[in-house]
Amino acid sequence: MCGIVGYVGHRPALDVVLDGLRRLEYRGYDSAGVAVTTGDGLAVERKAGRLANLEARLDEVGRDGFAGTAGMGHTRWATHGAPVDRNSHPHRDVTDRVAVVHNGIIENFAALRAELEAAGVEFASDTDTETAAHLVARAYDGLDGGSTAGDLPASVRAVCRRLDGAFTLVFTHVEQPDMVVAARRSSPLVVGLGEGETFLASDVAAFIEHTRDAVELGQDQVVTITRDGYHVTDFHGEDVSTRPFHVDWDLSAAEKGGHEYFMLKEIEEQPTALADTLRGHFVDGRIILDEQRLSDQDLRDVDKVFVVACGTAYHSGLVAKYAIEHWTRLPVEVELASEFRYRDPVLDRDTLVVAVSQSGETADTLEAVRHAREQKARVLAVCNTNGAQIPRESDAVLYTHAGPEVGVASTKTFLAQIAAIYLVGLALAQARGTKYPDEVGREFEELCAMPDAVARVLSTVDRVRELGRSLADAKAVLFLGRHVGYPVALEGALKLKELAYMHAEGFAAGELKHGPIALIEESLPVVVVMPSPKGRAVLHAKLLSNISEIQARGARTIVIAEEGDETVRPFADELVEVPAVPTLLQPLVSTVPLQVLAAEIARARGYDVDKPRNLAKSVTVE
Ligand code: F6R
Repeated sequence: MCGIVGYVGHRPALDVVLDGLRRLEYRGYDSAGVAVTTGDGLAVERKAGRLANLEARLDEVGRDGFAGTAGMGHTRWATHGAPVDRNSHPHRDVTDRVAVVHNGIIENFAALRAELEAAGVEFASDTDTETAAHLVARAYDGLDGGSTAGDLPASVRAVCRRLDGAFTLVFTHVEQPDMVVAARRSSPLVVGLGEGETFLASDVAAFIEHTRDAVELGQDQVVTITRDGYHVTDFHGEDVSTRPFHVDWDLSAAEKGGHEYFMLKEIEEQPTALADTLRGHFVDGRIILDEQRLSDQDLRDVDKVFVVACGTAYHSGLVAKYAIEHWTRLPVEVELASEFRYRDPVLDRDTLVVAVSQSGETADTLEAVRHAREQKARVLAVCNTNGAQIPRESDAVLYTHAGPEVGVASTKTFLAQIAAIYLVGLALAQARGTKYPDEVGREFEELCAMPDAVARVLSTVDRVRELGRSLADAKAVLFLGRHVGYPVALEGALKLKELAYMHAEGFAAGELKHGPIALIEESLPVVVVMPSPKGRAVLHAKLLSNISEIQARGARTIVIAEEGDETVRPFADELVEVPAVPTLLQPLVSTVPLQVLAAEIARARGYDVDKPRNLAKSVTVE
C-alpha cells in the first residue's frame, strides 16, 4: 500500500514527482524517495519518515543534480524490511543503471534473491523490491539467458513472468532516458495522459493538477510511457487495448478546503457524500443499482446475505444487517473479511456476498471476494474507488460517491457505505416483494432526508469539540449502544483508538453486566448511544437502567440522544443531541459526534489526525 508516481514529459521531473507524492502520502509514510534520469545517469535520494524528511534532505544536498524530465517517486508503507533509509525506494541494481519503485509484495523474493546472490549479486537492502532491479538489469544486459537485451519493456515483462505475489513496479534505465516502464499485478496503477507528458500513479490525485484524462492499467499488464503517450501489453508482449476515462473531480476536491486536516474536511463533506451516493438510484418508482449485472431474478433467488469487510467498512455492514433483515426477511451474516475465507463459510449460487471497501483494494476483502466466487456465490462490491480491484472481480458493483477520502480514518465513506448497503437492501426487498413499491419509495425518501439531518448535526459540533478537549487526558473511554447503536459504539471506539491512541472499547450495553461493568471506575468517560424514546421505547428504558448503573459507580456519562429526549437528561453528565430520525437511520446522525470527538481528542493530544501512526489508508497485504 505504497504510493507510486512516474513521469516523462517536458517539466522538471523532480517537481512533478514530489507534488504527486504529496497527494499520495496517505498511502504510506514510512519513507519517501525519488529517482530522476539525468544526462549523467540516475539521481536518487530517499529518506525514512515522511516526505518532509526527503524534501529537507534534497534541500541539504541541493536539487541541481536532479535536472531531468523523466523520473519516479515512492511513499512507503513498510512490508519487507524496517522503515530505514536503506530499505526506502527507489532501489537500484548493482550497476546503478536501473531504478525501481514498488507497491505490493513479491512473494518468491527469497528464492530469487538466493539465485541472484549465487550469481554474485550483492544486495544493498532487506527488501523484496531490490530483486526486481537486479533481475531487470540482468535481463537488459542479456545476462539471464533470455532474448530481451537492450529492450527495457521486454526485460520488465520477462521479469514479471517470474514474480509471484501482488505488485506494481515502475522502472527506469539510464540507457532509456525518455521512457518509464511499469507493470501491474493487483495493486492499482493509473496512467495520466497530458500534452507532451505522461504520468503514472497509484491514484489519479497524484497528477490531476496536470491532466484529468487517464487510463487504468489492468491485471498483468505492462505500460511504457514516453512524452508522446503510452503503450500497453500483457506480460507476454501482446498488445492490449485500453479505454481512457475522464476524471470528473478536480484538485480542490483532494485538498483540505481550508481545514487543518483532510479528515475534518471529510467529516464536513458527509451530507454531500450521502446525497451523491443516493442520487440516481430511484427512477420511475424503483431502486436502481449502478450496474445491473444482477437481474431481478438473481436478487429474487438470493436466500442468504453475507457482508464481508474490514474495520470501519465492517461496522457499516453491522449497521446494515438490521435494515436488510427487517426489510427482506433474509438472514444476513456480517463477517470480518480476514476471518471469512479461512473458516469454510456455507455459500452457494443463491448467496449474495456484499463486499464493502472504500479503497477497493483491501487484501483481506479481495481474498474474501475471490473465495466467495470460487464457491459460486454472487458478489456485489460496495466501493468508493472507480475501477479498483474488488469491483473488477465482483459480479456487480454499487459505488459510494463520497469522493476521495485522504484522511486515513474513514468518515464520510462510512456514512456513504451505510447508505449504499441500504440501497442493496431495498433492491432486494423490491425484487422479493417483501416491501410494497410505495414502502420502498418511502424508505428511499427517508434516506434522502439524511444529508440535511447530518448537516444539522455538523452545525452543532462545537460543543463536542470542547468536550473532546476536556477528555484529552483520559486513560480510556468506553462506548455503549444497543441495536443499531451497538455498531455505532464500535465505530466510535475504533476512531478513538486509531486517532488518539487511547484505549477504547465498544460494547453492546446489554453485555455490560456480563463482564465489562468491572471496568467502570470513578471518572471513567463512558459514551452512550441512546435509541429513540419513541422509536425504540423498550430499548430506551433498558439503556437508561444501564446508564444509571454506570453513573452509580462514578463514571462520567456522555450521552448521544435524540433532540427533545428529556428523560435522559438526569443520567447525562454531558448531553449531545442529534436530530430525531427513523431508528434504522440513526447511525447516520449519531456517528458524526463520535468522529468529531475522536478527532478533537487526538488534536488535543498533539497527534496528526490524517496520518495516525502505524496505519495506511489502504491495506493491500493480508
Ligand atoms: C478505520 C479505517 C479502516 C478501514 C479498513 C477497510 O477508520 O479506515 O478500518 O475501514 O481498513 O478499508 P477499505 O474500506 O478500504 O476496505
